[in-house]
Amino acid sequence: MKQPWWKSAVAYQIYPRSFKDSNGDGVGDIRGIIEKLDHLQDLGIDVVWISPLYKSPMDDCGYDISDYYAIDPLFGTNEDMYELIDEAKKRGIKIIMDLVINHCSDEHEWFQKALADPTCEEADYFYFRESKDGPPNNWRSMFGGSVWENVGGDRYYMHLFGKKQPDLNWENPKLREKLYENIRWWLDRGIAGFRVDAIVHIKKDPTLASREPQWDGMCGLLDCARNYPGINDFLAEMRDKAFTGYDVECMTVAEAPGVPQEELKFYVGENGFFSMLFDFTYSEINLWNAGWECARPKEDIPTTELRDSIYKHILDAQEVGWTAVYLENHDYSRSVNKYLPTGDQRDYHGVTMLATMYMNLRGTPFIYQGQEIGSTNIIFNSIDEVNDISTLNNWRGWTAAGLPLEQKMAGLQYSRDQNRIPMQWTAGENAGFTTGKAWLPINPNHVEINVEAQQNDPNSVLSYYKKLVKARKESVVSDALSLGDFEPVLLEDGDIIAYKRIGETSSALVINNYLKAEHEVTLPCAVKSVVLSNYDDVAIEGDKLILKPYQAIVFEI
Ligand code: NOJ
Repeated sequence: MKQPWWKSAVAYQIYPRSFKDSNGDGVGDIRGIIEKLDHLQDLGIDVVWISPLYKSPMDDCGYDISDYYAIDPLFGTNEDMYELIDEAKKRGIKIIMDLVINHCSDEHEWFQKALADPTCEEADYFYFRESKDGPPNNWRSMFGGSVWENVGGDRYYMHLFGKKQPDLNWENPKLREKLYENIRWWLDRGIAGFRVDAIVHIKKDPTLASREPQWDGMCGLLDCARNYPGINDFLAEMRDKAFTGYDVECMTVAEAPGVPQEELKFYVGENGFFSMLFDFTYSEINLWNAGWECARPKEDIPTTELRDSIYKHILDAQEVGWTAVYLENHDYSRSVNKYLPTGDQRDYHGVTMLATMYMNLRGTPFIYQGQEIGSTNIIFNSIDEVNDISTLNNWRGWTAAGLPLEQKMAGLQYSRDQNRIPMQWTAGENAGFTTGKAWLPINPNHVEINVEAQQNDPNSVLSYYKKLVKARKESVVSDALSLGDFEPVLLEDGDIIAYKRIGETSSALVINNYLKAEHEVTLPCAVKSVVLSNYDDVAIEGDKLILKPYQAIVFEI
């Protein structure tokens, strides 16, 4: 059966502010991305997701859009964007854009009109409500504080994220048509699809009723504005009216935490709303559903817990369709800090084991910029070093709650800005990112961790990532690794993460030793050849495999 192109693709995420600056203003831009396309081609990337480039006051770094049709001057022009699409195409790379349509910016003309005239058509594109005694309900915004902002008198509007990100009212059919028009306009310009931001929030409980108050008198949004019943009608309509009907099948990846298992088939099953989705369970495993100030390091997370949370999503998705796999994005800190015990962030074998473990799962793998060179967190010494709206809000909250400075500083190290500091291209000034002053600090370890140093070193993390990508595409087990079924093995051994991939024409066994110590396992089946390992040798004695510290192996079976 012919499979859609995006199932065997390897994806890469660019956070444009921090990828490459071409004009010395300290912020990355589209021409910078064009300059670095060869790096992506070299890595074997098929499709690039670029975080928002649209016109925006940048309150949430572009996730607050004031014009869906225009590129923000900070990043370049629409012509630069079209050139990027062409230049990428020449290298066999497709571009997908970010689609931020749960909310826009308060500077969008629709909102400005709505503010000026409560009776205008655009006023109903948003959630405006009148309330005499304070906010209309007790819902808490994702970035802290009430979801309601007063605009004078008794009039309020709703924002699930920041104050400058008013939520769009999807109940209004005219608004929905405008959004679909915009989607098709960009697809007509040659992009291959979208990563769909915060999409599980577009349907709200229509009664807008308050919920049981929590510690601050407010309530979280999970039960009133996330995956709320009725959302499927909107998503099906968007699929049919906006995403369908293109020669190159449109790839859509939904940011979709908490989709109930019984609903998953509608999202990513046959003719699902989306091609795949980002699940959050394993990416937030360190957070205990709490804040960064309580995050736990890997040494406090049993490997079985990590394994089981990854496997659950992969198996749930396999039952119905497809998914995306990832370790990092622009909303988290670095994966080597999250998933490796303290002290091992620069351990070559640890870093490459982690890469092997996730890149061969069943789903389309996403590599986040800098992950391919083993980028690590930086140490933030003060709140003044960060820019991120949610970090600043958290800090205010911690201060109001009287948290000791030490705990606030510990929380700060999990800031989203960890993954937003500039890409490390060279050992030179500003890591080769800019000739000006970078908008966020440069990690001092760029003198050792950088693309230039790694690209010709066969033993670098970058070279290993290239091998992983190649194994998926051009090896004896490429069919198994890209499209094959997923089957967990050796579950009784809590120190390793091992699975089979069973394809139509080949099968593979992937074994990852999560211990920084030698570890023996009994092979679950006969193996034919070693496709890839992060050590030169693989020690097998009879049916015993003696794994070296953090050894990862992909076998042909
Ligand atoms: C998810 C995005 O990834 C994040 O960066 C943003 O702040 C929120 N959605 C709001 O758009």
